[in-house]
Amino acid sequence: MNILLVGAGGREHALAWKIAGSPLLGRLVCAPGNPGMARLAELRAVAATDVQGQVALAREIGADLVVVGPEAAVAAGLADALQAAGIPCFGPTAAAGRLESSKAFTKAFADRHGIPTARYGVFETAEPAKAFLSRFAPPFVIKADGLAAGKGVVIAPDRAAAEAAIDDALGGRFGAAGARVVVEEFLEGEIASLFALCDGRSSLLFGGAQDHKRAFDGEAGPNTGGMGAYAPAPVLSEAVVETTRVRLIEPALRGVAAEGAPFRGVLFCELMVTAEGPKLVEFNVRFGDPECQVLMLRLESDLVPFLRAAAAGGLERLPPPRWRAEAAICVVLAAKGYPESPISGSVIEGADADFGPGVQIFHAGTARRGDGALVAAGGRVLNVCALGATLKAARDRAYEAVSKIRWPEGFHRTDIGWRALG
Ligand code: AMP
Ligand code: GLY
Repeated sequence: MNILLVGAGGREHALAWKIAGSPLLGRLVCAPGNPGMARLAELRAVAATDVQGQVALAREIGADLVVVGPEAAVAAGLADALQAAGIPCFGPTAAAGRLESSKAFTKAFADRHGIPTARYGVFETAEPAKAFLSRFAPPFVIKADGLAAGKGVVIAPDRAAAEAAIDDALGGRFGAAGARVVVEEFLEGEIASLFALCDGRSSLLFGGAQDHKRAFDGEAGPNTGGMGAYAPAPVLSEAVVETTRVRLIEPALRGVAAEGAPFRGVLFCELMVTAEGPKLVEFNVRFGDPECQVLMLRLESDLVPFLRAAAAGGLERLPPPRWRAEAAICVVLAAKGYPESPISGSVIEGADADFGPGVQIFHAGTARRGDGALVAAGGRVLNVCALGATLKAARDRAYEAVSKIRWPEGFHRTDIGWRALG
């Protein structure tokens, strides 16, 4: 099979790494890809959101399957254009993708389909949004409506900070994504990420993980796209997974289909395990980043048949995926200043080394300079990932590898996996 993988981050590097090991693979092309993926695939300089460019590339390489990594490509309508061109696509249409691209849409959708989630209000102006805060006790949760790369959510400790966050979002900090704000109830509990593949009709659970959203150790600092992940996550007990499947995931997949937009791809359910059971925090319509990295390390089955079936149908004929018994962890190395204003261009040394068995380095925001040096070219820059017999063993391996990478202009969290490690 010829496969076109769309995207350029750590998630896509991990997908490329797993796809590259498939006996079903003929040719793998990544667009635009990154320097880490260059060892595994042909790279082509087509932006993920360049819909016509991606369709033309898929045709040119005779792609049997296009795998869409990032949400921006979903929102741009890449799956719609591929569908029109008759090319199977792993990734939903823009209409099905509204589950991620508008938080206001998702909250109303959850209400329509009886999916438990935090109480909320949606506002286009500041005064009623601020008045609505009276319904809740602190901390307050303020979200930009649209896509903001995981950075559009503020958990405000008091009313003054909540009001400032409302002014900030509606004042244009997130551009069009902040034209509306969602103010919602703070959910007390532990957060987790659960994944399900869907081919438009049937679905299949596809692993879970726990992410670390805050920038700094001890869950301090601003929200980010994710600073690290690990799996398996003890909070995802069999009971929690089953309740989430039945009450959150299945109603959502049935709901989008009933509303005329059947879902093909991976539904990423971010849930809060509260005293009243799992509640929806948000849906995403692609793999999590960095959750995908730990899923790919633990996935024993060939990934390609699952991607192909989700894109073209037949998921119900596949057995559930097999996972390695080992634990996996991912530590994100980010450029100083991330998430607000990461500093680009600094040189990273030692990342190309062989770190031994069980360790994988995935590139996220990197670039090769003319002289071959690896430099930072984004907020989240490298993902240091490891497998281990236990989570502790995986963590020790990953942090040992981190210590060998020389990058004074970067930072990382030192406590990834803390909830499971105690
Ligand atoms: P989101 O972008 O919606 O995933 O939100 C980013 C992070 O903010 C989540 O991973 C949670 O840790 C936190 N969060 C979002 N909504 C809530 C909520 N209603 N209650 C508590 N924490 C939340
Ligand atoms: N790590 C969470 C996300 O990909 O949105």
